[in-house]
Amino acid sequence: MDKFIDEAVNYLQEAEHAVVFTGSGISAESGISTFRGEDGLWERYNPEEVASIYGFRKNPAAFWHFARDLFLKSTAFPNPGHEALAQLEKMDVIKAVITQNIDMLHQKAGSQNVLELHGSLDKVDCLNCTREFNWDHIASVLEKDCPVCESCGSKMLKPRIVFFGEALPAGTLKKAREETEKSDVFLVVGSSLEVYPAAGFPDIARYSGAKTILINKDITGLEDMFHTVIKGKAGEVLPRLAEACI
Ligand code: APR
Ligand code: ZN
Repeated sequence: MDKFIDEAVNYLQEAEHAVVFTGSGISAESGISTFRGEDGLWERYNPEEVASIYGFRKNPAAFWHFARDLFLKSTAFPNPGHEALAQLEKMDVIKAVITQNIDMLHQKAGSQNVLELHGSLDKVDCLNCTREFNWDHIASVLEKDCPVCESCGSKMLKPRIVFFGEALPAGTLKKAREETEKSDVFLVVGSSLEVYPAAGFPDIARYSGAKTILINKDITGLEDMFHTVIKGKAGEVLPRLAEACI
């Protein structure tokens, strides 16, 4: 692994505009389940039922039970992988984090320029009366039961995340595309790259001439697309990259 870490460090140190792209794998060491791979959430839940806009409208409670399992049982604290990315941004080695994750752990770790392609849990809206709630309040209610709107009693409380069947936030998508097209190094961490349009970003980076680096705990079958592949856990590899870039 050392040889590949050295390669990645060289790319990062010479980079003018390095960008990082993350998936659920970077939050696995914070206790948040990934969607695919061993013990993935989609082995236990039907995404149509718990993560599509059709399923949500039919039965919001199914989503909230899923959300409780996904977010309330985890430590929900950043791990050394998130912290290393925040450090690399502070050192001006990386310019942006493009994430598919909705857990806000990059921001909690101190990353500033975070582009959340699939939105985040930060705010929850009542689809009936448009009242807005903060996640912390909703999470406290979710411990005991599925949340309902305290203004109108509606069960249609929806977090600002992108459900299957919904479009990605256009402004974030545009900014993420600009960052990717500008990148001369593009580091993909902890993603199966199975869900488009997010999964298309490494291609955009490569066509823009960027050196592409993959960090993943498992073999993804996409290794040939990358200039450098580091097989390892994000929480172990990223701190080594940050350490070497000091
Ligand atoms: N370090 C690095 N990689 C890891 C780790 C780890 N500690 N643990 C797991 N991985 C890898 C897995 O091998 C897998 O390739 O992270 C990847 C996680 O893949 P997915 O679970 O498919 O997550 P992601 O790519 O983010 O999914 C994309 O799919 O269901 C939708 O909206 C959901 O945003 C999500 C999208
Ligand atoms: Zn309401």
